[in-house]
Amino acid sequence: MKANKNLIEVALPLDAINKASAREKSIRHGHPSTLHLWWARRPLAAARAIVFAQVVDDPSAHPDLFPTEKKQEKERQRLFRIIEDLVQWENTANETVLQHARDEIWNSWRAACAENVDHPRAKELFDRQRLPAFHDPFAGGGSLPLEAQRLGFESYASDLNPVAVLICKTLIEIPPKFGGKPPVNPAARKDKALIEREWHGAQGLAEDVRYYGRWMRDEAEKRIGDLYPKVEVTAEMAKPRPDLKQYVGEKLTVIAWLWARTVRSPNPAFPNVEVPLASTFMLSTKEGKETYVEPVIQDGDYRFTVKLGKPKDGEGTKNGTKLARGANFKCLMSEAPIEGDYIKAEGKAGRMGARLMATVAEGRRGRVYLSPTPEMEEVAQRAKPEWKPDLVISGSTQYLGIKPYGMERFSQLHTPRQLQALSTFSDLVREARERVKRDAQVGGPTDGGRDLAAGGTGATAYAEAVSACLSLCVSRQANRSSTLNFWDSQGENVQQVFARQALQMTWDFVEGNPFSDSTGNFVGQAEYFSRVLEMAVPATP
Ligand SMILES: C[S@@+](CC[C@H](N)C(=O)[O-])C[C@H]1O[C@@H](n2cnc3c(N)ncnc32)[C@H](O)[C@@H]1O
Repeated sequence: MKANKNLIEVALPLDAINKASAREKSIRHGHPSTLHLWWARRPLAAARAIVFAQVVDDPSAHPDLFPTEKKQEKERQRLFRIIEDLVQWENTANETVLQHARDEIWNSWRAACAENVDHPRAKELFDRQRLPAFHDPFAGGGSLPLEAQRLGFESYASDLNPVAVLICKTLIEIPPKFGGKPPVNPAARKDKALIEREWHGAQGLAEDVRYYGRWMRDEAEKRIGDLYPKVEVTAEMAKPRPDLKQYVGEKLTVIAWLWARTVRSPNPAFPNVEVPLASTFMLSTKEGKETYVEPVIQDGDYRFTVKLGKPKDGEGTKNGTKLARGANFKCLMSEAPIEGDYIKAEGKAGRMGARLMATVAEGRRGRVYLSPTPEMEEVAQRAKPEWKPDLVISGSTQYLGIKPYGMERFSQLHTPRQLQALSTFSDLVREARERVKRDAQVGGPTDGGRDLAAGGTGATAYAEAVSACLSLCVSRQANRSSTLNFWDSQGENVQQVFARQALQMTWDFVEGNPFSDSTGNFVGQAEYFSRVLEMAVPATP
């Protein structure tokens, strides 16, 4: 087989590729990396440039066309300009720029076919009408096969991990199958503006993921909404908090509950007090919006109260009950040190608990922090999940800092309310699939039950496609529904589990509300997902 020297073997416009790759990190909406978390994703700019430069010949491979070094360099610079355009995020769906690149790929492919015309399997391997397929057996988040597809290759992706496979399916395999099709949901079928508009690429699919995602949210709220009650602001609550006066009598939607893990005080003087392991008492560190929790010790016990403004003891409030780095705390009641080994032993014995430090609600102009109430604590205990993932977490404690504290199973990474919400959403994926199928069948031909694996593109396959997307939305939600989520006091947001590249212990954690309109809600997961689908490759060119 004769193989020409490719551009990548000679030179690349690295500055442009690096710059575009770095810029991609700040793109929040529509970027494939926001579809679902995956590790070590290659920037699309780099993936696109590399695929192109691997299959396009360097001009030195064609001395007949470019006989001198000067001419070769001139041609190389022309190819560099193509790459420089190609790597720009704004050109991701720019058909003119993409076609320009595809033309170069075809030129090099046809040259390869001509040079291998005598190859014994030329007909099969060097078909000038058909580009070779692109395979990535370690595809992960799918950057390389996605970009190969964009450049006109038939792409194949596989991975050992089923999550990565699902990501690749929804990013690469599914969108082109349903390219140009309108949504099937009943609302879209009634809306004149939606009926009349044109649906490009996977926009119709994206609209359905949004619609059925919203349906799942509403349905889940009917089933378990009582576990997420609104909080009524009373005159009593507003007495020490003039900022709450404007809300008296109103019921505010809870965004999140902030909990501190607890262990029994090691001081024998307080044998029955479960003291907090709080790494901070600061709730908001935003300039001008500082809010913190103040523990009030009373009658041999304690309670938390939320205060506005800068705390008098800034350092002490910042550190919560922490004494030093790692698992070193002090007893809130007695200041007695609480060492890591004690916390580990209590955790392993199943005696680690949690105490509500504050409730965050949706206000008219931002977050409203409220002192905890017994009702808010009690409602969390009411959750009774019917199912939990009792799988043992395998792997080394280097990345699983939770294990020494007795958190050995996935089910221990969630509160009962989070488990109930996640299993409710999971059940609803299946129900949504049946709904999509029914809706897609209205007025359409029967598809004989042909699913995606059988190459179907009818109602059955479409329902599978939408439900695959929705299942990843639930997975996104799981990343925001764990006791390993922590509150970002600067951004006032729920931070996902994998904000850190490990399962690290959280001392104070946040439990978000999937039914709110703010950080960590379920509709937001479907929205992020849909925006990526809208940018997916329109159809296999
Ligand atoms: C670094 S990631 C690939 C990232 C990808 N290039 C991207 O841009 O998103 C490596 C992938 O290899 C997968 N992997 C590891 N061992 C594997 C194996 N034996 N077979 C298939 N996939 C494997 C991992 O699950 C992981 O998704």
